Amino acid sequence: MALPVSHEDYAKKTAHYRGTRVPIGSDKVKDFILKGGSGSGKCLRLLEAGCGTGNYLRAFAKSDKEIQFHGLDASKDMLEEARANVASLPAKGQQSFKFQHGNLCDPEAFKPARFVGAETAGDVGGATSGVTADEQFDGLWCCQVLHHLGNVDVENSNLETTLRNFYDSLAPNGRVAINYSPPDIHAQGIWWVHLMPSANKAFHERSPSIEQITSIMEKIGFQDVKVDILYEDNLYQADAYGDAETFIQEDVPESENPFYQMDSTFAMATEQERQDAKAFVKGLVKEGKWQEWFQAQEAQRKASGQSVNVYAVKK
Ligand SMILES: C[S@@+](CC[C@H](N)C(=O)[O-])C[C@H]1O[C@@H](n2cnc3c(N)ncnc32)[C@H](O)[C@@H]1O
Repeated sequence: MALPVSHEDYAKKTAHYRGTRVPIGSDKVKDFILKGGSGSGKCLRLLEAGCGTGNYLRAFAKSDKEIQFHGLDASKDMLEEARANVASLPAKGQQSFKFQHGNLCDPEAFKPARFVGAETAGDVGGATSGVTADEQFDGLWCCQVLHHLGNVDVENSNLETTLRNFYDSLAPNGRVAINYSPPDIHAQGIWWVHLMPSANKAFHERSPSIEQITSIMEKIGFQDVKVDILYEDNLYQADAYGDAETFIQEDVPESENPFYQMDSTFAMATEQERQDAKAFVKGLVKEGKWQEWFQAQEAQRKASGQSVNVYAVKK
C-alpha cells in the first residue's frame, strides 16, 4: 500500500532527531498502556506505531514488566536508528524488541508475525486481512505521527483508516495512547509556527481538532476517550528550542539547520517564509530583544501546551 504523500525526508532527519526531540509525556503514556490487556500477568505485547528513532521505546523499557516491544515505521533510516537505540540498553531477559518497515494505513503492517528482531528489517507485502484475534496487541501508542497522514477533512481519510487499524490490532481491554498537536495548540505553543503562516495552514489541514479525533475514535468503537493537554512538556530539548543563534546561522545549508530537522513545519513552509522568519529573529537578536520576545513565547507555550495525549480503551 502506498504511503501518504509526506512533507518530510526522514532519511535526512534521522541523524538529528534523537538529539533534539524529547519523549514527552512518556511516563503518563506508559502508566496507561501497561494496564492494558487481559491482566493475566502474561507477557505484554506492545506496539509503537511510527516509532521513529525509538526514543519512547527506550523510555518504556525502563519498566520491569515482561514486554514484547514492536516498532513500526515507514522510514528505514529511522528504524535503523531505533534498532541501535534499543541495542545500547542494558540487556533485560524479559524484554524483546522487534521492528517492521510499513505503513500505518496498511492493516497488514500490524501483524506481529511480520516484525523481526534486531538484525534485519521487516518489510510489508501487499495488504490482506490484517491482524487476527490471537495476534492482537495489549497496548499501542503513537506519538507525533498523525500530521504525516495527509489531509483530515476528506472522505475515508488516512487518519480514519489508521485509527481503525489501531482498533483492529488491539485485544479486548487493549489501550491506545496518541500524542499529537491539534492545530490551535500547535500554532500557539511552538514559537516559530506563527512566523510561517502557510506552513501553519498546511499543518492545520493535516491535524484533527480535539473534537474531530474524539468523534472519529468513538465512531470506530473506542471507549473512554480522554484528552489531556500537556501544558508543561516541551517537545524539544530546552537548549535547542531557544537557541536563536542556531536558528539564524548562515554557514550551513538551510536543510541542515537543526531547527529545520526537528519540526515538520519548516518542510511545509515556503522558502520565502523561512527566510522571513529568519530575518525576524535576526532583527530581534540584533536589537537585543530576543530574550524578552522568547520569554513571552514561553509564557504562551505554558498557557496553551504544544501537544495533547489522547487515551482510549477497546472494551
Ligand atoms: C515526528 S516522527 C515521531 C517519531 C516517534 N514517534 C517520536 O515521537 O519520537 C514521525 C515518524 O512517523 C513516521 N511515519 C510517518 N508517516 C508514516 C506512515 N504512514 N506509516 C508509518 N510511519 C510513518 C516517520 O517515518 C517518522 O519516523
